[in-house]
Amino acid sequence: MDQNQLKQAVAQAAVDYTLTRIDDSSIIGIGTGSTANFFIDLIAAHKNRFQGTVASSEGSAERLLSHGIKVFELNAVSQVDIYIDGADEANERLELIKGGGAALTREKIVTAVANEFVCIADESKWVDFLGTFPLPVEVIPMARSYVARELVKLGGDPVWRENVTTDNGNLILDVHGLYPIDSACALEEQINQITGVVTNGLFAVKPADILFLATQKGILTKTAKV
Ligand code: 5RP
Repeated sequence: MDQNQLKQAVAQAAVDYTLTRIDDSSIIGIGTGSTANFFIDLIAAHKNRFQGTVASSEGSAERLLSHGIKVFELNAVSQVDIYIDGADEANERLELIKGGGAALTREKIVTAVANEFVCIADESKWVDFLGTFPLPVEVIPMARSYVARELVKLGGDPVWRENVTTDNGNLILDVHGLYPIDSACALEEQINQITGVVTNGLFAVKPADILFLATQKGILTKTAKV
């Protein structure tokens, strides 16, 4: 199977799992990216089995609406039953790097609200140590240079993702040179303390609860090893 077939297979596994976790009052949180898009396209056949969704990006919201799936503002719902999203890297603790699609802040907000976070990825995302994928950091525009200098002090090599504005009107710095990240929680908190940072793409303080990983041998189900 090629990478897209793996993404579609893992999205189907997540649909099957989600259907066991929801009822007609449930709100499903929807992530962003190509794997999440496969999930959206596949859950559409079951849109009468849940109340609606909240989306982690304008792009995902549009795709959901195109299937006739209800999309609620996060502030309009009292809970999110389950959140499904992809990742750029995942380790055995189910700590993640996310934000390749520049949606990290809204993704982290929906993750914070969700009762359960299900990550879906193909095997290329599975790593022993995080940090090969450059760590995305969302930054208030006027703080870009200051934050970049502070990230250099932490040992990183930030690169401005030019021509990208997030759904929140902010910028992205992609931080190279952090591999291997051996304490993802500490680094996540440290970067978030820099004034001007909105959030960073480490999902370690609140990692995934379960990871479905598509491999050539089938779908693996992973829970966190501590
Ligand atoms: C978007 C993300 C995505 O989940 C991540 O980039 C993976 O994308 P894809 O499913 O296209 O490989 O964090 O901000």
